Amino acid sequence: MLLHLMHVEFIFIFKGLVFTFTLYNTPFVALTEVTAWLLHYLPGEEAVFSFLLFHVYLADLAENSLLNKLIRKSLVESSHRVEVLQRDPSSPLFSVKTFEELHLKEELLRGVYAMGFNRPSKIQETALPMMVAHPPQNLIAQSQSGTGKTAAFVLAMLSRVNAAVKYPQCLCLAPTFELALQTGRVVEQMGKFCADVKVSYAVRGNKVPRGAVIKEQIVIGTPGTTLDWCFKLRLMDLKKISVFVLDEADVMINTQGFSDQSIRVQRALSQDCQMLLFSATFEDAVWQFAERIVPDPNVIKLRREELTLNNIRQYYFLCENNSEKYKALCNVYGSITVGQAIVFCQTRRNAKWLSLQMIRDGHQVAMLSGELTVEQRAAVIQRFRDGKEKVLITTNVCARGIDVIQVTIVVNFNLPTNQLQHPDFETYLHRIGRAGRFGKKGLAFNMIERYNLSLLHRIEEHFQTKIKKLDPDDMDELEKIEY
Ligand SMILES: Nc1ncnc2c1ncn2[C@@H]1O[C@H](COP(=O)(O)OP(=O)(O)OP(=O)(O)O)[C@@H](O)[C@H]1O
Ligand SMILES: [Mg+2]
Repeated sequence: MLLHLMHVEFIFIFKGLVFTFTLYNTPFVALTEVTAWLLHYLPGEEAVFSFLLFHVYLADLAENSLLNKLIRKSLVESSHRVEVLQRDPSSPLFSVKTFEELHLKEELLRGVYAMGFNRPSKIQETALPMMVAHPPQNLIAQSQSGTGKTAAFVLAMLSRVNAAVKYPQCLCLAPTFELALQTGRVVEQMGKFCADVKVSYAVRGNKVPRGAVIKEQIVIGTPGTTLDWCFKLRLMDLKKISVFVLDEADVMINTQGFSDQSIRVQRALSQDCQMLLFSATFEDAVWQFAERIVPDPNVIKLRREELTLNNIRQYYFLCENNSEKYKALCNVYGSITVGQAIVFCQTRRNAKWLSLQMIRDGHQVAMLSGELTVEQRAAVIQRFRDGKEKVLITTNVCARGIDVIQVTIVVNFNLPTNQLQHPDFETYLHRIGRAGRFGKKGLAFNMIERYNLSLLHRIEEHFQTKIKKLDPDDMDELEKIEY
């Protein structure tokens, strides 16, 4: 609790009327003086004054105002920021070329500019020439979260597609339903000046009758449904695919992930199909595996210390127990004056519990986890994109790829861990990458119980980064946070 220099709101009832007044930057000693003064002038039954209630209220107020300050101070955007970053060679958004210099087709240039993009990012500038070269070349590419990988591979697919023929020629797999929908929308938007190019969604819930054939040239799907479309329902012919994209490729080929399904699709492709693998993270073993399954690839790889983005500031609250974590979260919630937040839990059960708890306490939050139906999932994410709920409580299902530019805060209510209870470094990076898209400023708050502190330190060590402890009791420390 903050007991020095705080904003103090006095509430008292006198002759049946409620009076309030606020003293700003009050030292604690002044509290006792003002209390004595009140009790002197408003004696007996006339003065109702609950010191206990009054204290709790003060502490919350003070904590909230500190967070508020931090959040406001850190997130105010400069409209020139992206432009400045794109001219800074150390930024992942840096580019020397313009989109014109990347020799895109006229209709694609129009699509890019209609999306409001002015210059390519580093990954777009570097990867695009490789991807559209003749003869086609394979690529394994890594670039930090929120740096525009989607546009890079979508432009590659749209550059290669032949609108005149009506069967799938480009296939892109993504790990989740939400991400496949999102990527499909980017294809539709970017390709809106490409006459007759259409997109189909191989995702759960998109029912295509047996015996039908897919005429759309670009298919975006999740591995399971795509496998059904290709092998069980025979809706499309993998031998006719000329560009195969694996987004979030590390998880798609990792045995813990979707490996069996993705690899089965990949093996059925023709020899000359171009393969493009993208992710922000590739653990060493996964990278080696990727190089084994992709023939003769071009490679764009980051060093580990380049992975974290300095536009995303990371903090942690040290909490004694779950209820302290919950209280810290409510304080963050109360302080969101800019943008939206995503709160990550480790299990569906946690996410459900947390959202019920918050709703019961009068907060308006949305919850998305794998146990919802696809209709519910689509509706929840859409409402969140539209800003109808400011907070989304979720599991790792939203950890990767989801791009909601208004998200400025990510909270790890539980740190991501693997089955051995070791920190899941990749998921941590993807989760915090939901904030701070394309150079925007973001904040990541980790709620840490003392026994989990070592996990946090291992994350710091792994990425050679600093996660700063936040202590709402120490105003001076918070005041010093510069951005
Ligand atoms: N050249 C550009 N200029 C301006 N904005 C861009 C540009 N390229 C992409 N963006 C925007 O940047 C945001 C992030 O892009 P995207 O989702 O492709 O990132 P990503 O690299 O795939 O990240 P993640 O690893 O989290 O999946 C999107 O909102 C996109 O519209
Ligand atoms: Mg992405």
